Amino acid sequence: MKNLTSPRRVFLAALAAAALVGCKPSENSAPAAGGGGDTSGDIIVGEFASLTGTEAAFGQSSHKGTQLAFEQVNAAGGALGRKFKHLVEDTQSKAGESATIARKFVSRDKVVAVLGEVASGRSLEAAPVCQQFGVPMISPSSTNPKVTEIGDFIFRVCFIDPFQGKLISEFATKTLKAKKVAILSDVSSAYSVGLAQYFRESFVASGGQIVIEQKYSNKDKDFKAQLTAIKAAGVDGILVPGYYNEVGLIVKQARELGVMVPMFGGDGWEAQELIQIAGGEALQNTYYSTHFSPANKAPEAQSFVDAFKARFNGETPDAMAALGYDSARALVEAIKKAGTTEGKKLKEELAAIDFVGATGRTKLDAKRDAAKPAVIITTEGGKFKFLQSIEP
Ligand code: PHE
Repeated sequence: MKNLTSPRRVFLAALAAAALVGCKPSENSAPAAGGGGDTSGDIIVGEFASLTGTEAAFGQSSHKGTQLAFEQVNAAGGALGRKFKHLVEDTQSKAGESATIARKFVSRDKVVAVLGEVASGRSLEAAPVCQQFGVPMISPSSTNPKVTEIGDFIFRVCFIDPFQGKLISEFATKTLKAKKVAILSDVSSAYSVGLAQYFRESFVASGGQIVIEQKYSNKDKDFKAQLTAIKAAGVDGILVPGYYNEVGLIVKQARELGVMVPMFGGDGWEAQELIQIAGGEALQNTYYSTHFSPANKAPEAQSFVDAFKARFNGETPDAMAALGYDSARALVEAIKKAGTTEGKKLKEELAAIDFVGATGRTKLDAKRDAAKPAVIITTEGGKFKFLQSIEP
């Protein structure tokens, strides 16, 4: 584990900060028996992210967003007279790590809140732990509806897949004029299975036909059998609701087999690696929906893009970075409003959150989900290109 933010401060400072907010220094940051914890008075936040492994692009990006947010907040004095201490743990893009990490955050590090994950499947693993211990968890970008259904301590700052599935379906019918579509989904991913379902419902309701459905699993490398079956079925579009690694190979192999119809998917496509894996040429006539475009002219989006570039060597932020940033911002706003880091009060302020961040206005509905605009991106000359924006 790496401690990426402020250094430990002396115990006196902790006492002073605690006096300011009228609580004992042990309230949220006491070291657990047998070590760990923190005695500096900092507000400890735990983030779990796929920093390595197959979806490393997601975790790294979203972590840069949270890092930037806490650095800005700490430079401006923190909250409640205290600084944020931002811990991060790597899920390695694996199943089975997230609940263990959440448990460690809660019992050893005494975090006031948990941020993560990008992937719905891993958010679903950690959420029951946070719910059980009454520690608010905010997913930046998990879009499967089930994530926040785990309970009232679980939040997200992004839209959900019933919306995303419907907008992809509308784009397929109206813009691409697709009538007969194939679906090639990842059965090992809650996100993929869900997005396929919401697309299917909407596409069929608007008179379209799902001619063939094929499946794969995370880490598969050869999709020729599925793609050959799809080719034989004769479709005018293919939905691939997956993550960029497999999607990149699928698009590449489809074009190699002479399948040139439009291919489309959701936010899981978004990573520069997609272009590296598939190649710019194969990605012609492909489209995906996501949460953010750096081309967005809104002042909050632009100030985020500028700060991100300045902080990370000119790198342009993507949707995960923007949502990571907004997840940390939401937490900070809620702590300031609550005047405490106590879980129950914090949860109430999170439910009532309303601020404008990098991805637009973040206001949650009764299910603790955000309604936000989506964007559609295509690829041109080996570069992602903003196509259109869709209101919730
Ligand atoms: N929405 C995806 C999921 O729930 C994760 C994701 C978010 C991927 C944003 C890319 C961009 O698993």
